[in-house]
Amino acid sequence: MKTFTLPGTELTVPNVVLGLMRIQEKTDEEVRTLVKTARDAGISFFDHADVYGSGPHGCEKRFAEAMQLTSSEREQIVLQTKAGIVREGPYFDFSYEHIIESVNGSLAALGTDYIDILLLHRPDALVEPDEVARAFDELSASGKVRSFGVSNHTPGQIELLRKSVSQPVVANQLQLSVTHAPLVAQGVAANMQALDQSISRDSGTLDYCRLNDITVQAWSPFQAGFFNGVFLGSPDYPELNAVIDRLAAKYDVPAIAVATAWITRHPAQMQVVLGTTNPDRVAGAALGSDVPLTRAEWYEMFRTAGYTVP
Ligand SMILES: NC(=O)c1ccc[n+]([C@@H]2O[C@H](COP(=O)([O-])OP(=O)(O)OC[C@H]3O[C@@H](n4cnc5c(N)ncnc54)[C@H](OP(=O)(O)O)[C@@H]3O)[C@@H](O)[C@H]2O)c1
Repeated sequence: MKTFTLPGTELTVPNVVLGLMRIQEKTDEEVRTLVKTARDAGISFFDHADVYGSGPHGCEKRFAEAMQLTSSEREQIVLQTKAGIVREGPYFDFSYEHIIESVNGSLAALGTDYIDILLLHRPDALVEPDEVARAFDELSASGKVRSFGVSNHTPGQIELLRKSVSQPVVANQLQLSVTHAPLVAQGVAANMQALDQSISRDSGTLDYCRLNDITVQAWSPFQAGFFNGVFLGSPDYPELNAVIDRLAAKYDVPAIAVATAWITRHPAQMQVVLGTTNPDRVAGAALGSDVPLTRAEWYEMFRTAGYTVP
């Protein structure tokens, strides 16, 4: 497993991490096997959110109840969680009160004294950057949160926060898979009037993050689109799957590792956030941490996923 020092922190992190959004209905034994498989593969970084699960902090609680981590086990892993989505609305809430309440709820649910990284989950149109700064300062001073980041944020939204927030923004978690890659694809086709791909949907977020040492974390790395099923093995993507299968044979890894490698091969040093609850798939995806796809192979996957290389 390839690891690196997460810029803005002292954490050594893997480039493939495990998201726990889908564990609510899993038994203790299933959660333990999933996490142990991840740990054995070098995945020491776990992604949560207050809203994952069937009730508030549901998946955080499920994880903690199943794992019963000792303090030394806790220290060996990175726990990241998120705040800012109010599901019953639905609406977004980056107020001081909401951020503090959410973090206290996550600490209790996870049974830990500290969160390694807290992300603001989705941009709040009513954000008051000074309130976010007050919440972050308090959480940082009390030791409850060690580092901060965002998710689904544009450069302008991050700049607005940075005007008030003194802690570094260390991560931006964004949807990215080879079939859902506007972050990457727009720049390849910039200024092409006849191509939809040329339309900027995110104001240059990927380049901005690279320029500012903000690590991009790719969520839904195998979903074709927005939670509409995976592209792996899908009859909707025959050419892409043929290329993936050929590369899997070449590198002697499962297909899921090649799909992972399409993201880890990108020089932005992104982290792939897996969402599978299947231990074999976790172990297979982890093998994609360091597959050295050539430039030609990377672009072949991009093209057969439906993107244009003008
Ligand atoms: N920041 C955000 O806004 C945001 C949004 C969504 C997700 N996330 C994070 O990103 C993580 C990953 O998201 P995701 O679960 O949508 O991503 P994903 O890894 O692309 O999708 C996993 C889902 O696809 C299913 N699946 C079916 N066939 C599969 C195959 N051949 N290979 C792999 N998976 C297959 C899995 O089922 P099995 O479990 O049966 O394998 C699971 O339900 C989440 O856990 C969460 O931590 C963040």
